[in-house]
Amino acid sequence: MKVNQLVYEINDINLENDELMLYETLFHNANGYIGIRSCFEEGYEKGYNTIRGTYINGFYDIVEMKQAEKLYGLIEEKQAMLNIADTQSIELKIDNESFSLFEGTTLRVRRFLDMEHGITGREVLWRSPSGKEVEIIIKRMTSFYQLSLFTIEYSIKAVNFDGKVELLSYHIGDVMNYSNPDDPRVANESLKHIIPVDVDCVNGASYIISNTLVSGLSVCTGVKHILSKECLEKMDLLVNTVTSSYTFDIAHNETVTLTKYSIFSDSIRHKDCKENAKAEMTKALEKTLTEHYSHQADYLKEYWKNTYLEIDGDEELSLAVRYNMYQLIQSVGKDEHSNIAAKGLSGEGYEGHYFWDTEMYIQPFFTLTEPGIAKNLIKYRYTTLEKARENAKLLGHKKGALYPWRTIMGSECSGYFPSGTAAYHINGDIAYSIITYYLATKDIDFIADYGAEIIFETARLWMDVGNFYNGQFRINEVTGPDEYTCMVNNNYYTNACAQFNLKWAVKFYDLLTESKKISHVVDKMNLSEIEIKDFEKASGCMYLPYDETLKINPQDDSFLEKKVWDFEHTPKEDYPLLLHYHPLCLYRHQVCKQADTVLAHFIFEDAQSLETIRNSFNYYEKVTTHDSSLSTCIFSIVASKLGLTHKAYDYFGDSAKLDLFNTHKNTKDGIHTANMGGNYMAIVYGFAGLRLKEDGLHFAPNLPLQWDGYRFKVNYEDSMIMVEVFKNKCIFTLISGTGKTFFVREKEYRLESSLIISQ
Ligand code: BGC
Repeated sequence: MKVNQLVYEINDINLENDELMLYETLFHNANGYIGIRSCFEEGYEKGYNTIRGTYINGFYDIVEMKQAEKLYGLIEEKQAMLNIADTQSIELKIDNESFSLFEGTTLRVRRFLDMEHGITGREVLWRSPSGKEVEIIIKRMTSFYQLSLFTIEYSIKAVNFDGKVELLSYHIGDVMNYSNPDDPRVANESLKHIIPVDVDCVNGASYIISNTLVSGLSVCTGVKHILSKECLEKMDLLVNTVTSSYTFDIAHNETVTLTKYSIFSDSIRHKDCKENAKAEMTKALEKTLTEHYSHQADYLKEYWKNTYLEIDGDEELSLAVRYNMYQLIQSVGKDEHSNIAAKGLSGEGYEGHYFWDTEMYIQPFFTLTEPGIAKNLIKYRYTTLEKARENAKLLGHKKGALYPWRTIMGSECSGYFPSGTAAYHINGDIAYSIITYYLATKDIDFIADYGAEIIFETARLWMDVGNFYNGQFRINEVTGPDEYTCMVNNNYYTNACAQFNLKWAVKFYDLLTESKKISHVVDKMNLSEIEIKDFEKASGCMYLPYDETLKINPQDDSFLEKKVWDFEHTPKEDYPLLLHYHPLCLYRHQVCKQADTVLAHFIFEDAQSLETIRNSFNYYEKVTTHDSSLSTCIFSIVASKLGLTHKAYDYFGDSAKLDLFNTHKNTKDGIHTANMGGNYMAIVYGFAGLRLKEDGLHFAPNLPLQWDGYRFKVNYEDSMIMVEVFKNKCIFTLISGTGKTFFVREKEYRLESSLIISQ
């Protein structure tokens, strides 16, 4: 692997099946609306597995989820993101010899992702079994500028021969979802969810409309080709596949290019998806491919400008961080019908579901760099608030809204409630993300229009799920972030989130009352002053477990009573534990899959003394396996806070490399978007110690020994600030907007243009 600036590339090819599936993920193309895995256009050898997936964010079918025992309220169906028509297949024949890396000789090969220009590609110099040498350059792009558009530019150069070439390009409606019955993180039954119902050719473009089996949705894909030279052209239309063939003579040294435009449209966003696909195709063809490339580069120029982050002296990790940031813009939904899935649009792991990953790991990145996107993510939760109200009712709550643990269109999709629906902290996470969005932007109008209703409904739910006992507000029978400990009383993280949620419900009520923006919310929700008083009371006496002997916050009421997992005698191959031990066995031990109380210490750092945080960190570090990709980034942040910069750096490195080096061994099923956001946080919230607090922006910068320095930009209120951290000093520069007061290690400073602070 070679890393360089904004290009990630590999220059050798390992044709092992697992490697190919890994690179399908790592080089996938996506733009937040569509995602296409990077499979070889010509396919693999017979017998190879592939996840030849093409996805639309938020486009789903409803799938039965049979419960072994029919208890009241258990979910019996879920939504699953669908693999839709395949438009990436292209076969090349040279004088009847088919191009394949599994045959002939590969003289040179390079696969790349160019994050500056937003394209991926494959460059091959190949010698056919009969000795014909051909150079093939394939570039693929999912446009950020026209979200419906995917292009493949397929160029062939005859290096040492004159001959006849045939290009066969496919548009395949007959597709299925991927499954793996042995991995709970992937769907376990492979189903055909969409059926092609109409195939048509309009102005030389083929269109396939497919309907979902149950959800009543439709998707239309359109494909149109342009060849750079005259040829014999044929199109075969079958009900589920369209084959377009192009036959031509090629001369020694001549280059011929096929450009394939694919358009995607769905009935969630468009009443008539075929009409919309046709209109999008016309729009796409109005521009040359060069113009499309140039729009793509412009979009990314702006993105890298807003998300600017540089590390001096660590090129490999620096590129890994940028790779992660690129994947976030590829994955995040750009409208209120979609959000950001745990695997983005890169694979079918977790079935395209949205989790708390969004609010706690990804949104913090967008809030500071692209607040418009953060706003959209909140709007998505607003759009699904009604479903959350229904979910609360199903669970027996008399008021409030309970967001689903995992979902696409808003209703619960988690089949195993102990580590799904019981994770009530999702409500507090969503509230937290709205509050921090407000702290970063002070956008009170947005709170009045969208945020407040969510905050009040989630606060209401806490009042219903918890109860006062011995003068304390307690929350029983919930699951915290650590999925190796389920259904407990008073999970520290959950209680702290609920407290924050309730406290801010009161604050927003006061703020909106002051700014005379409360009445429509009060009327719509029938919100009473008594409820606000109750929120205040519950948050004021929220029970946060503390152990006097260990001087730590126990993860929950019973955590410390359990025996500690026998780490010493657990073989390496048994990790992740979830694939080798019964859940009950895990639940009975002190063993954490991921940061739980440690996460609470990061986001609610003022709730405990530094000593307690240090003790907790040391304690939980010993019992945490980091089997979840959401863990090491948080340990890195808290290690930074505790001045353990070396440790913070190691955790940060683990998180940065997780997908590029496939350290969790499941990147073939998709990237880990939460980890990618967390990795950014490990620098900005971790090393630089940024916190958004009510009195302003705080920093506590550290520099890992391995680095010469680092710098990044953040949006705060109406200003853009550049932060640069070096060994002996930090420089803060106001790039745009008005002057700001901020804090470095609790000391107040005023930034009008530029400030140098010695460390
Ligand atoms: C983690 C959850 C996370 C989910 C999706 C699980 O392994 O334990 O915290 O939300 O993955 O990323």
